[in-house]
Amino acid sequence: MSKELGVGIVGCGNISTTYFTFAPLFKGLNLVACADISAAAAEARAAEYGVTAQSVEELLANPAVDVVINLTVPAAHYGVTKAALEAGKHVYTEKPLVISLEDGKALRDLAKSKGLSVGSAPDTFLGGAWQHARAVVDAGDIGTITAGTAHVMSHGMEHWHPNPDFFFQPGAGPILDLGPYYIAGLINLIGPVKRVGALTSMATPTRTILSEPRKGEVIPVETPTTIQALLEFEQGASVTLSASWDVWAHRHVPMELYGTEGSLFLPDPNFFGGKVEMSRRDGPIGALPDWSHPLGIPNQQHKQGMMANYRTAGLADMVLALIEGREARCSIDRALHGVDIMTSILRSGEEGRFIDLTTTCTRPEALGIEAASALLRPVA
Ligand SMILES: NC(=O)c1ccc[n+]([C@@H]2O[C@H](COP(=O)([O-])OP(=O)(O)OC[C@H]3O[C@@H](n4cnc5c(N)ncnc54)[C@H](O)[C@@H]3O)[C@@H](O)[C@H]2O)c1
Repeated sequence: MSKELGVGIVGCGNISTTYFTFAPLFKGLNLVACADISAAAAEARAAEYGVTAQSVEELLANPAVDVVINLTVPAAHYGVTKAALEAGKHVYTEKPLVISLEDGKALRDLAKSKGLSVGSAPDTFLGGAWQHARAVVDAGDIGTITAGTAHVMSHGMEHWHPNPDFFFQPGAGPILDLGPYYIAGLINLIGPVKRVGALTSMATPTRTILSEPRKGEVIPVETPTTIQALLEFEQGASVTLSASWDVWAHRHVPMELYGTEGSLFLPDPNFFGGKVEMSRRDGPIGALPDWSHPLGIPNQQHKQGMMANYRTAGLADMVLALIEGREARCSIDRALHGVDIMTSILRSGEEGRFIDLTTTCTRPEALGIEAASALLRPVA
C-alpha cells in the first residue's frame, strides 16, 4: 500500500475546518476533495483550503480518494459510511459512529467483507494528557481502578452552533454528542464496560436558538438532556457519568478515577491536553511532572485559553495501521462498544432497569511520545 492515502471529506459544516486545518500536520494524509449535500458548502470549503469540490456521488467515484472522512450530522453517518464502503473506500467518521447498535454492526460486517477499515472519532484520548494518564495507570501508580466519576454539564449548544437542531434530536443529546469523549477516555484507561443503568430526563421540550443566523427560532427537544448513568466495567470498577445540557453552573472536575493506591484527576476529554493530577494514597494532590508528548502541546485558541487540538490523529493512526497491518487505535470495535454503552444508557433510562452490554473491546494500544511523533510530518 502507498504511504500516502487520498482523503475526501463528506460534510463541509462547522467541524470540517478543524479537519482541513489539522490533517496536513499528519503523515500519510493527502486532502484531495470535499463534498456536501449543499454544493455551496462544499465549494466554500474547497476554495478556502485548495481542494476540489464534488458532489457526494462524484467524490465516492473519485479514484484519487482512498479514504472518506464522514463529517455529516449523526443521523447521516450510517448512510454516508455505508455508501463509501460500497464504493470501496476506507472511512473515518466523526462521532458517534452511528446512532444504533444494529447500524454499527452492519457497517462492521460490510467493512470486513470488503477488506476495508472504518475508524471513528473521538481521537482525543490519543492526546498528551490522556496518554500521560494511561502511562500512570499502566505503571500501577494508582493501583487497580475501582471507581470514578465523570461530569459533562453545561447549558446546551443553542448559544453557539448556527444549526443546533441535531443536538436535540435522537442520535445526539449530551450522551451521544459529548459522551463519546468520556467513554473513549474511560475505555483507554479502564477497558470495556459490562453493564449500565441510568435515569434520564429533559428540562424543557423546546429550545430557543441564541446564535445567528437563526436567532429566536424555537426548536424541539426530542432526546434526553439530563442523564445520570452508572457504568460497571468488566474489570470490576464502577463509574458514575453525569451528562447534562440543563445545568447553568457546577464545580465538578471532568473526571476522577480512584484506585487502590491513589487517585487520578483528569482534564476535559474533548481536548488532547490539559492538566493531569494525582495523589498516592492519602498524600497531597499534585500535577504530574511535565511530559513532552507532541499531541499535548497547546495549538489552538479557545475560550478556556490555548488548548491542544490534534483531530485527525485517529485517522493518521488508522492509515499507519493499514500500512503496518495492525489494528487502529480508533477502531470500529471500540466505537461500536461506545455506541452500545451510550444507547444502552438511554434504553436503561426508558426501561428503568440495568442493561447488560452485548459488545466488548480491548483497550487501545498506548500511544507514547515516540509513536505519536511518528504520526506527525516533520516541521518544515
Ligand atoms: N462542531 C463541532 O465542534 C464538532 C466537534 C466534534 C465533532 N463534531 C461532530 O461532527 C459532525 C458534524 O458536526 P458539525 O458541527 O460540523 O455539523 P454541521 O451541521 O455544521 O455540518 C454538517 C454538514 O453535513 C452536511 N450533510 C448532512 N447530511 C449529509 C449527507 N447525507 N451527505 C452529505 N453531506 C451531508 C450538511 O449539509 C452540513 O454542511 C457531527 O457528528 C458532530 O457530532 C462536531
